[in-house]
Amino acid sequence: MAKVKIALIGAGNIANTHLESYRNVPDAEITAICDINPERLKITADRFGIEKRYTDVDTMLAELPELDAADVCVWNCNHAECSIKALNAGLHVLCEKPMAYSAKEAELMLEAAKKNNKLLMIGFVLRFSDDAKIAKDFIEKGYLGDIYYSKAQYVRRHGNPGGWFADKARSGGGPVIDLGVHVIDLTRYLMGNPKPVSVYAASYDNIGKRDYLKTNVGWIPQDAKPDDPCTVEDFATALIRYDNGAVTQLEAAYSINGEDIAKRQLFGTKGGMDLSNGVKIYGEYNDFLADINVNTKNFKGSQNLFDAEMSHFVDCIANGTECRAKAEDGIEVMRILDAIYESARTGHEVIL
Ligand SMILES: NC(=O)c1ccc[n+]([C@@H]2O[C@H](COP(=O)([O-])OP(=O)(O)OC[C@H]3O[C@@H](n4cnc5c(N)ncnc54)[C@H](O)[C@@H]3O)[C@@H](O)[C@H]2O)c1
Repeated sequence: MAKVKIALIGAGNIANTHLESYRNVPDAEITAICDINPERLKITADRFGIEKRYTDVDTMLAELPELDAADVCVWNCNHAECSIKALNAGLHVLCEKPMAYSAKEAELMLEAAKKNNKLLMIGFVLRFSDDAKIAKDFIEKGYLGDIYYSKAQYVRRHGNPGGWFADKARSGGGPVIDLGVHVIDLTRYLMGNPKPVSVYAASYDNIGKRDYLKTNVGWIPQDAKPDDPCTVEDFATALIRYDNGAVTQLEAAYSINGEDIAKRQLFGTKGGMDLSNGVKIYGEYNDFLADINVNTKNFKGSQNLFDAEMSHFVDCIANGTECRAKAEDGIEVMRILDAIYESARTGHEVIL
């Protein structure tokens, strides 16, 4: 079988992670790479030995009709434009999370995919972790019963990456659209992709980026400069209600005066699940309250989550396998993200 010829659009941090993973996908061939920043383009292209290099997407797409697919790894504000151009050039597209800058843009992306009859997959990488696969299997076998509540927490005490991430014009927002997107999608996916019906949220920008050059603050973000502006929220909380009556409580932060939290919890009629550190199920068995600690280390299908995501993308193209991270889900998550920002701005619940 011919290999799937892929172009990377964006040559930054996550493009490097994707390229590492494509090395482990035998059916993938990296044909070209494009970035508007020539220095980053050179560093990444040299590192992975990619000869065809472009600083402009249109030129790349026009000059390389042999391409099968594009992997879009650019700033959030350019996801829609780059993806739509690639789809209209007849390529399948994997677009990093968040799907777009807004739900409206995301809808245009799906339209372009449908018009050109091409795959549009969204980089919801947490769906591809071993833990998520194991959790989904337990859930589908009924261990939790009906899930009516989940907690999605992605909280950094000091983790504003600065650079474009802190620039609302390019990112669309802060921890909600950058981190919250991951855990909103993961919990919704594990809950069976219910439809969001309303959102109530609050967000704050009290702390900002912190002065990360102070020795006691510690972490220095890659690529950021101390005087980069910060125009995004540093913390938000939201209650997302779904059409089946279930709700998700979100907490997302770049900066907060509290501990780092990476908790994903699901609460069902028969059992609860904690995905914070492996997979743990809380239940009632044999007339006892009892817990199952799943030994995830012996998982036969164990795979690095990015390797799993890239190989799934290539498998969908090469073999027509059904996509596990569809654009339709990307749109629902974008509607939730838009509603969080709208509710936080107005102080009112947003009905979707
Ligand atoms: N899945 C994950 O866990 C994960 C982690 C980090 C970032 N991301 C996502 O990946 C995307 C990129 O993030 P990053 O950390 O790699 O940022 P980055 O700044 O390191 O890289 C982005 C690159 O895109 C380039 N670019 C911007 N617009 C372009 C355009 N129109 N055409 C060509 N190149 C363009 C920039 O010059 C930059 O080099 C973001 O959407 C981010 O949310 C996902």
